Amino acid sequence: MDAYELLMTRRSIRSYTDEPVSDEDVEKVLRAAMAAPSAGNQQPWHFVVVRDRETMDDIMNVHPYSSMLEQAEVCIAVLADLALEKHKGYWVQDASAATQNLLLAAHALGLGAVWLGVHPVKEREEGVKAILNLPEGVECLSLVAIGHPAEPAGPADRYDPERVHEETW
Ligand SMILES: Cc1cc2nc3c(=O)[nH]c(=O)nc-3n(C[C@H](O)[C@H](O)[C@H](O)COP(=O)(O)O)c2cc1C
Repeated sequence: MDAYELLMTRRSIRSYTDEPVSDEDVEKVLRAAMAAPSAGNQQPWHFVVVRDRETMDDIMNVHPYSSMLEQAEVCIAVLADLALEKHKGYWVQDASAATQNLLLAAHALGLGAVWLGVHPVKEREEGVKAILNLPEGVECLSLVAIGHPAEPAGPADRYDPERVHEETW
């Protein structure tokens, strides 16, 4: 599959088989995440890789739309250390780019993944901070649930020419 087809066929996958996700694949998706662009190449990201069932249960208690963690093999928290920001306020965009790279890499490896929004919902941010023991100044942008897809998802072509403006709005 070429790169264009890869990104056009990525979908959120919320149902997984019980096939394990290898450490090698986890490293590959993290390597892709860290290849993302960032403001001034500041790379403020950190990641927590969770495989522990109890931790997944704790996360499900603080995140209302994370029930797929029940089946997920891995959950990766995409974080940013604000002390690493050279350009203040850009951490959200940096961590978003990393999250998208991670999702695309998972798809490229035949894994299924879904982005779970954490920032800017205060209760989720505080819940995840406590569960993952994040230090002061480290924020969570997203969680990514990963497993082997239980069922294939079709592509979604959402191209809408009405959203495209030439030269000015
Ligand atoms: C910022 C953000 C937050 C999201 N949060 C959740 C979430 O909490 N739970 C969930 O199941 N999906 C979540 N999603 C996935 C979206 O629901 C999904 O991307 C959207 O419905 C489009 O479907 P697709 O990813 O299959 O193309 C989130 C996506 C983004 C970009």
